[in-house]
Amino acid sequence: MDIAFPRKLDLALTPTPLQYLERASARWGGGHRLWIKRDDLTGCTLSGNKVRKLEFITAYAQDQGYDTLITCGGLQSNHCRATAFVGAQLNMPVHLVLRGEDSGQHQGNLLLDHLAGARVSCYPVSHYLAERDALLQHWQEHYAQQGRKALVIPTGGSDGIGVWGYLSAALELAADLEAVEVEQAHVVCATGSGGTQAGLTLGADLMQLPQTVWGVNVCDDEQYFRDKVAADIRDWGVRYAQAAPASPVVRVLDGYVGEGYAKASPEIFALIAELARLEGVVLDPVYTGKAFAGMVAEIAAGRFSGCRDIVFVHTGGIFGIFPQSQGFSGP
Ligand SMILES: Cc1ncc(COP(=O)(O)O)c(C=O)c1O
Repeated sequence: MDIAFPRKLDLALTPTPLQYLERASARWGGGHRLWIKRDDLTGCTLSGNKVRKLEFITAYAQDQGYDTLITCGGLQSNHCRATAFVGAQLNMPVHLVLRGEDSGQHQGNLLLDHLAGARVSCYPVSHYLAERDALLQHWQEHYAQQGRKALVIPTGGSDGIGVWGYLSAALELAADLEAVEVEQAHVVCATGSGGTQAGLTLGADLMQLPQTVWGVNVCDDEQYFRDKVAADIRDWGVRYAQAAPASPVVRVLDGYVGEGYAKASPEIFALIAELARLEGVVLDPVYTGKAFAGMVAEIAAGRFSGCRDIVFVHTGGIFGIFPQSQGFSGP
């Protein structure tokens, strides 16, 4: 199927490498070959999955005459940090609406948000959860009163515009797999706001790619993400008048959230440390560590049997290890 892509800005260092994980395959593969799509290498301050979405979102913002970007997320949001740096690179002011109170000690992504010159407004968790949309609207109106036009980017950049980022990544991955003569693969990613999984799922569906996409949710539950991924795909279909699949098959591997969003067990920290030693690849405790753990557990349970190759999409998040560095000193 021919897809007419909208304009995007070149912000990400792509294509990213697809690498074979020889020692991780021996350790956790259970007979499968494990590959990693290095989307943690899309950039430095712009690293991770968010920049692929922001390439399309910022082009849209420019084309529609927006001059300011507003977005939201947790205090350590990778998406907010990436947006802050995109804004600095494009000379577009960025305002971040963050969930959680500012202790004054800026670390990890929050430190970077400030370095990039973003305006940051922090709200107590309960206030944020109850009022997020109203807060975003409040700031949008605030800028409108100053004669500015602010685009509100949803959590994680996950909507019909952001979907393009991983729809095009699905095509990139198909070319990567062809180059290493892999005919069929399971593809596993972390799912936090749904857009990455939505793009990969849609790309595989529309282009009939030999990729079976699975998202490991790091918050909420299976039903939430089935609905959210389908909603992002629908939004894409409506915005771009494309024939989106009416009921896409959304595969969610639930059961790996642990104690809650951004709370990782000692086993997750141990897994991150082991992979770093084995392969020189660093995961994070909020997203990719849990997703990798989910993949390993599902391999052991036989979920992917019958298909030799499994690709883990490394969606970035390295700055998230620094505010949680105490997790690595455990048993
Ligand atoms: C490092 C990292 N991996 C994965 C995800 C999940 O991606 P998505 O929000 O598109 O579901 C996020 C953000 O939520 C992230 O920051």
